Amino acid sequence: NWTMEDFIEMKVDEIRKEVGDKKVILGLSGGVDSSVTATLLHKAIGDQLTAIFVDHGMLRKDEGNQVMQALNKDLGVNIIRVNAQKRFLDKLKGVTDPEKKRKIIGKEFIEVFNEEAKKLKDVDFLAQGTLYTDVIESGTNTAQTIKSHHNVGGLPKDMHFKLIEPLRKLFKDEVRELGEKLGIPHDLVWRQPFPGPGLGIRVLGEVTEDKLKIVRDSDAILREEIKKAGLQEKIWQYFTVLPGIRSVGVMGDGRTYDYTIGIRAVTSIDGMTADFAQIPWDVLGHISDRIVNEVDNVNRVVYDVTSKPPSTIEWE
Ligand code: XMP
Repeated sequence: NWTMEDFIEMKVDEIRKEVGDKKVILGLSGGVDSSVTATLLHKAIGDQLTAIFVDHGMLRKDEGNQVMQALNKDLGVNIIRVNAQKRFLDKLKGVTDPEKKRKIIGKEFIEVFNEEAKKLKDVDFLAQGTLYTDVIESGTNTAQTIKSHHNVGGLPKDMHFKLIEPLRKLFKDEVRELGEKLGIPHDLVWRQPFPGPGLGIRVLGEVTEDKLKIVRDSDAILREEIKKAGLQEKIWQYFTVLPGIRSVGVMGDGRTYDYTIGIRAVTSIDGMTADFAQIPWDVLGHISDRIVNEVDNVNRVVYDVTSKPPSTIEWE
């Protein structure tokens, strides 16, 4: 029976022995698994690690900056941040099919990563934040067959790296605990699940910069109010979606014709099944007021009251 301290000591030792004086790269998505892997490797081998943070521009509000602050500024992890929003949006132009969007985002992520990786010389190892659940469920998870999940993966074909996967034996909760022990802020490691394609699958249909802004701003309000109401540990996942439908409203003396925001909030154990969360009406009412008042081009807010199945958690 090991403690997290034992685990860290053991892994640091193992990584140092394996890597020696060689260099390691890692694709940082901004998520918990790759962040914890990067921090653990940094502890073991310092600047022999280069993390490449592919910011696809579809992260939540301030998320990219928070990750940079915590990992790079505070913990000293060597990170190259690539602001690639424009590249991703160009590739997504005119694409409305959810699965196509996922594939494009996943492929582009790997391409951006590879381009950056090629610029670095003499790299022998690639580190990945693969968890135990990824190992045992890979291919058999129904969620994965219903929606193709994009996670960092797919080794560059013309590069021959040795793989380092220090989280392979851990479950998600253990990874979060490990992250905290390594000094990553509580709020970052205990973030709710967030899909690899990010807000790109919460703007339904074609993704544009304007629509991303609407979903990002409304999501920030929702998260702020859920936290204020003390509900963030009780609800498994909560976010807003932009279905792209517009409807008539009235504001002041004027008629408006603007977008509808959908709120999705669920309780769940593992995301395989879920129930819609019973958020108190007054909390929902307040969130709705704020979204309509503070987010441009939104004049209506609806609450999703379906469970999974038959609905999925995400709308795409
Ligand atoms: P669904 O929508 O299938 O989601 O009920 C179940 C859980 O999986 C997350 N999800 C994804 N995660 N890449 C990911 O890394 C994806 O493409 C993806 N699609 C859904 C979703 O947020 C929920 O937690």
